[in-house]
Amino acid sequence: MRIRVLGRLAASALLSVPLSAQNFVCSLSDSQEKEAPAAFDKLMPLFLTKRCFNCHGGINPFVAMTMGDQSKKLERRGTHPDLFNGEDKVVLDPDGTENFAKTFKACVTCHDAGAFAAGTWHLAPFQPDKQFAIAGSGIAKATLDLCKQIKVRGRFPGTAGFIGHMTDDNGNTAAPFLETAFVGTMALDKDETDAATEDLKNEGGYPAPITVMTRGQALQLSKDWVAAMGGKFRQPEECGCKEHHYALRVIAKGVLQMPGFTFHIGFAGQNTAFPEIHLKFQDNGSFSDSAIATPETDNEGSLPMIRCQGKRGNQVQVEVKGTWPDITPGSTAPTDEPPAPPKSPIKFSITLSQAATAASESCATPLGVMMGSSNKTGPPKFTFDFVFPDPQVNQAVAVDWPAPFPGWAGRVTAQIIEVP
Ligand code: HEC
Ligand code: HEC
Repeated sequence: MRIRVLGRLAASALLSVPLSAQNFVCSLSDSQEKEAPAAFDKLMPLFLTKRCFNCHGGINPFVAMTMGDQSKKLERRGTHPDLFNGEDKVVLDPDGTENFAKTFKACVTCHDAGAFAAGTWHLAPFQPDKQFAIAGSGIAKATLDLCKQIKVRGRFPGTAGFIGHMTDDNGNTAAPFLETAFVGTMALDKDETDAATEDLKNEGGYPAPITVMTRGQALQLSKDWVAAMGGKFRQPEECGCKEHHYALRVIAKGVLQMPGFTFHIGFAGQNTAFPEIHLKFQDNGSFSDSAIATPETDNEGSLPMIRCQGKRGNQVQVEVKGTWPDITPGSTAPTDEPPAPPKSPIKFSITLSQAATAASESCATPLGVMMGSSNKTGPPKFTFDFVFPDPQVNQAVAVDWPAPFPGWAGRVTAQIIEVP
């Protein structure tokens, strides 16, 4: 008794888990799923060049971080010359944010070539989720982590903000970080170049321009990544950074109840508990696929309503057809929208029809069509319409399975799952 109750709880939990988890389905087509992470991989060597990396956590010239009279020691990293006492601390405001003016005021005594005025030469923000290095280590983050972070961290949001940054720091002529990184001068004034030449003689010398790619190539690769995401950053976090694949798990159950007799039908696909139909998203948002499932049938009762000889080799074709307008083609222009959850529903229909019946079988039954007991006439097709308004992984939707038999009750459930 107790075991049965537990069993039921487990089954209902399976269907209700996802709403709180908010693990949205990534709205990219199958080809975009492949192309986007591959495009970001090509950008990765740029983020790891010292010219970009050093400002984003690779080096640390500071010895402490202070807030009011509180002070925390920092580990210096890299070959940077010592800063004067009083200029060698990161200064935080009472609310914990960096005080740019106080922290970076002194940098300009050496880093003042080009457009850099006092306070404009500064390190990327210190928050761990805004650096290219793992917090406090100077070691590069994994490609996937960096990719996820680039989608959300920019001061100018969205893919437009990112492209703007990769074009000309979004028009920031007072601190042209990108341009300076590519020419490799570190905006050092003349007096400092000797020191730099000496310090960096084993690290490529000075100046040390970026050589892994040109600025034009860096911009093109950035545009390729954005184009492979249909022009916008999407949720979940890993969307566009890691390849995803999804499938529908189709669960169908029916019961025919007549006086003295009960007949069950349900799916238990091969190898998996239920048939899994892959969601093969096309670039235009459409998808379709099908699978063959072998339903389980059983009957119990006292009436000899069903008498079968031979094998019951009944097979049902499960066909899925649908669209998801959130999937947009690669030509879409960049937007300033932060990574957004899906906006439109995934809509599809599931059609169940008889695929094959064992020819050797012969049954006498009032439900011949449903049981696939005849090799001459197939059962009727049943089509069910499904709508997932805010598609999330593990979400399930159930619809009734009406059939023209008195005493019949059935239900078809579709669940979106992530598959390798
Ligand atoms: C006394 C001169 C001097 C001051 C002041 C100074 N720097 Fe530097 N900085 C250098 C030199 C020289 C280099 C070249 C690297 C080396 O010599 O190790 C450098 C390199 C750097 C780099 C590495 C850039 C790259 O492309 O690899 C960063 C980042 C940096 N400094 C940040 C700062 C910050 C932030 C400040 C202010 C808090 C600052 N520096 C103040 C002299 C200075
Ligand atoms: C002198 C230091 C410095 C150098 C060199 C530098 N950056 Fe930055 N970078 C920053 C700062 C500071 C920010 C934060 C800007 C902001 O959010 O206002 C930033 C922000 C970014 C962002 C997020 C911006 C956004 O709005 O999406 C990216 C991406 C980035 N940098 C890439 C690079 C690349 C690639 C290079 C090398 C070609 C590079 N940076 C070199 C200091 C630097």
